[in-house]
Amino acid sequence: MSKRPIIIDTDPGIDDAVALAIALFSDKLDVKLITTVAGNVSLDKVTYNTLRLLKFYGKEIPVAKGADSPLILPLKDASNVHGKSGMEGFDFEEPDEHLLLKENAVEAMHRIIMESDEPITLVPIAPLTNIALLLKVYPEVKKNIREIVLMGGSAGRGNKGVMSEFNIATDPEAAHIVFECGLPIVMAGLDVGWKALVLQEDSVKLPSLGEVGRMAYCLFQKYRGGSMKTGLKMYDSCAIAYLLRPEMYDIAETYVGVELSGDMTAGCTLVDLKGYLGRPNNAKVCMDIDGKMFREWFLESIAECI
Ligand code: BDR
Ligand code: CA
Repeated sequence: MSKRPIIIDTDPGIDDAVALAIALFSDKLDVKLITTVAGNVSLDKVTYNTLRLLKFYGKEIPVAKGADSPLILPLKDASNVHGKSGMEGFDFEEPDEHLLLKENAVEAMHRIIMESDEPITLVPIAPLTNIALLLKVYPEVKKNIREIVLMGGSAGRGNKGVMSEFNIATDPEAAHIVFECGLPIVMAGLDVGWKALVLQEDSVKLPSLGEVGRMAYCLFQKYRGGSMKTGLKMYDSCAIAYLLRPEMYDIAETYVGVELSGDMTAGCTLVDLKGYLGRPNNAKVCMDIDGKMFREWFLESIAECI
């Protein structure tokens, strides 16, 4: 079977770092391009982190820099979760910049999507600024996008606001554009992210699984997305898990709206399971995950990396 062509839009980010590894070493995915966006930390830092990761992984994948701030709001980063650099805890080698394209993220995505013989799947695991810009500037790309499989949102409570998740709340206007764009969307949000855990007993196995496992183990000592006691949350791997092992999810097809104007709720996703809003379905929402299956898959996947 041919590998599924994807573009990953990311803001590494400790959970991004491991999600990227799983995607890059999978024999079922063909990562055509990685685009970066301001989110967990600044655009310069996430781009530098992406280049450091690719050097460490030994992967020659083109990288394009995207938006340095959300469409309207100022950036409020998540360095409290990922550390000042966005990837604290491991000594990476200095990368050179040969993988960094001169084109920006929107230009590079447009070119690669239009050139591809097979429809591309977009996998955003960060605020949706670049994806919204792409869809607005080059709407013709929709013809050659298979689906958008994103990490973001929540059917319940939030991790950035009371009801809002970080990637959506960081750039709600961009998320609104993406959810209303008419393409098939899969949302893997906090409903599954909070159950996609690495427990202490899993974490101690990581160093013996190889170089990537050793790196993950070190980064996890600094990661504040959960705790060793209650489990570390592998949010971004949830999007990759959907591509590789969708059977671990319970999925509901429904309408998802993004609240833009609520004083206290801006940036929350309204997952309209009961159809109150009377709008046509626009997303498949991952509502639940088999946590045991995820933990086994995660360790197996890390073991398949270098
Ligand atoms: C999302 O926020 C970021 O901090 C993580 O990398 C993930 O993409 C989880 O809410
Ligand atoms: Ca992320």
